[in-house]
Amino acid sequence: MTSRITGTGSALPEKRVTNIDLQELVETSDEWIRERTGIVERRISTGDTVADLSAKACERALQAAGKTAQEVELILVATCSPEMLLPCCACQVQDQIGAVNAVAFDLNAACSGFLFALNTAHAYIQAGLYNNALVVGGEVLSKLVDWKDRSTCILFGDGAGAAYVEASTQDIWCPNGRRVGMESMVQGSDGTRANVLSCVQRTVHNAFLEQSNKEEFQYIQMDGQEVYKFAIKQVPTCILEALDKAGLTTEDVDLFILHQANERIIESVARRLKTALSKFPMNIDKVGNMSSATIPVLLDELNRSGAIKQGDRIVLSGFGAGLTYGADVFVWG
Ligand code: ACO
Repeated sequence: MTSRITGTGSALPEKRVTNIDLQELVETSDEWIRERTGIVERRISTGDTVADLSAKACERALQAAGKTAQEVELILVATCSPEMLLPCCACQVQDQIGAVNAVAFDLNAACSGFLFALNTAHAYIQAGLYNNALVVGGEVLSKLVDWKDRSTCILFGDGAGAAYVEASTQDIWCPNGRRVGMESMVQGSDGTRANVLSCVQRTVHNAFLEQSNKEEFQYIQMDGQEVYKFAIKQVPTCILEALDKAGLTTEDVDLFILHQANERIIESVARRLKTALSKFPMNIDKVGNMSSATIPVLLDELNRSGAIKQGDRIVLSGFGAGLTYGADVFVWG
């Protein structure tokens, strides 16, 4: 038994913020941002919450899969920027879409979140516990960003993407001889590198502390160069590991859908894998880095435009705070 994605959806806030707009806020330039990151504009929430965007993405994924909300058994929302600690965002999504029969919970692995949630759904489905899942990556990072810090505020955007995942109880063979569904996965974490990319929410403080520890809310802190070095080494390594697990090589892959953090990271990964950059679709120019939402939003864009065809072998790979990383290999259909 394996699992397969049968519908995708995404939702972005209306407001576009260009690099030129950012020149008004911090000392930067359109040229610097384009050259260093590949980003031209990003969408920024003017009121949409993570739950609002995630619910819209879910409704679109359900529609694409031809399913109703009542049929959904599991909702997993990957997010590191929920508006509320309680209840979890997935329960808010459940309420908004009316998925009354689902169990719902959140998962946080920063930019690897969607991948880890997809793997979690796959494991539940493979174990026979659930027949389907809505897997979501949703973020409103604009509230975690210090809009006075030019080293981070130029990078991030808001949005959500969702995938409807179903059990594939009977093998579905494509005309190219490939079997539809998940083929292999690799995921990893290195908690010793937490300081490379972090955002403190609440530190320990209670009535029993001698000195109350009521720190001000803090914004995303990042050592950009360390993240960069980590990504260009770890992403190709875990992709090769996932391919090797499935008895495949890079030549067997049609598309590499990577976390959209920086165009230069993606170019470097393509070079290291000795694979044409044309197999690495990008949308970072239009949406920036949306953490856990980047992979499902790009997946939805490619799916809707017809760029992904039945039988295509796809690699998804993410990396982010934790530090966390992972890669999945699957055949679309
Ligand atoms: N505009 C103009 N100049 C800037 C800006 C800016 N927005 N930001 C930094 N600079 C300056 C710096 O001050 C520095 O100036 P100096 O040489 O006078 O000291 C110079 O530009 C170079 O700065 P670097 O930090 O060395 O620039 P770099 O080439 O490393 O690019 C970047 C920075 C884009 C952040 C890059 O390191 C990167 O993309 N790293 C990966 C980040 C990433 O992927 N983060 C997300 C991970 S996903 C997640 O989990 C959320």
